[in-house]
Amino acid sequence: MKSQIIDGKKVAEDLINRIKEGVDRRLAKGLRAPGLAMILVGDNPASKVYVRNKEKACERSGILSMMHRLPESTSEQELLALIDRLNGDAAVDGILVQIPLPQHIDAEAVLNSISPDKDADGFHPDNMGRLAIGAPRFRPCTPRGIMTLLEHTGAELAGIDAVIVGRSNIVGRPMALELIQVSATVTVCHSKTRDLPGKIAAADLVVAAVGRAEFVKGDWIKPGAIVIDVGINRNEEGKLVGDVEFGAASERASWITPVPGGVGPMTVASLLENTFDSAESRDPS
Ligand code: GUN
Repeated sequence: MKSQIIDGKKVAEDLINRIKEGVDRRLAKGLRAPGLAMILVGDNPASKVYVRNKEKACERSGILSMMHRLPESTSEQELLALIDRLNGDAAVDGILVQIPLPQHIDAEAVLNSISPDKDADGFHPDNMGRLAIGAPRFRPCTPRGIMTLLEHTGAELAGIDAVIVGRSNIVGRPMALELIQVSATVTVCHSKTRDLPGKIAAADLVVAAVGRAEFVKGDWIKPGAIVIDVGINRNEEGKLVGDVEFGAASERASWITPVPGGVGPMTVASLLENTFDSAESRDPS
């Protein structure tokens, strides 16, 4: 069996176009464009690329991006003071602090200081807690984007056996909550999991979010399973690869996301969706 490719780039582009229509509708009614404040502290090269992509996507959707590029030497107090100001700014619907933050800043304290009403990333404990009790508000962007991709496959998710590899707060944990919400049976695997190949071999859906190049082998995949690859890694030859051995896995899966062009663009599109929804909840069009 040869897989069908889930074209995240195309799904994200369509979503961004729909958000643009929504923004234009707001402007036509005399409402303001949604605003997303982004904070990047320091010079992490990957973070710079991610934030630039988010800025470009904002431009395409008509959402105003308000960039705050701060030096590595920024103190926690300075960062908290900026967030406090953005929390009170009526032109700001979403606030995003790119992580990782420099060592001397307590990332948890910073993320917790973002108003849960402007938490476009969905990382605040209030929003994670709401997702956990099945009453989501802002949903973390990568899992939300993956749910949108899964809808596009048309696959029935209720009752399927889903295996998530990775338990990060950004992807693995909220992904488990999203899949419970649609009545999948969810197993979360991590570094202490016994017999990972056996767990994956029994899964109808595999979400790989470990951050290790081609860690999930293609021959572990159950024939006909859906494979979602969240990883973006460089292999030994410097090529961009996912957490899944794509070639071998695509011989077995029914649907599979490519790297790049799969989950990555959806994370950005979901961020815009969250920001748009936030503006709509403040003043509906
Ligand atoms: N770092 C890696 N992924 C993300 C993300 O989705 N949001 C933020 N703020 N930082 C990240």
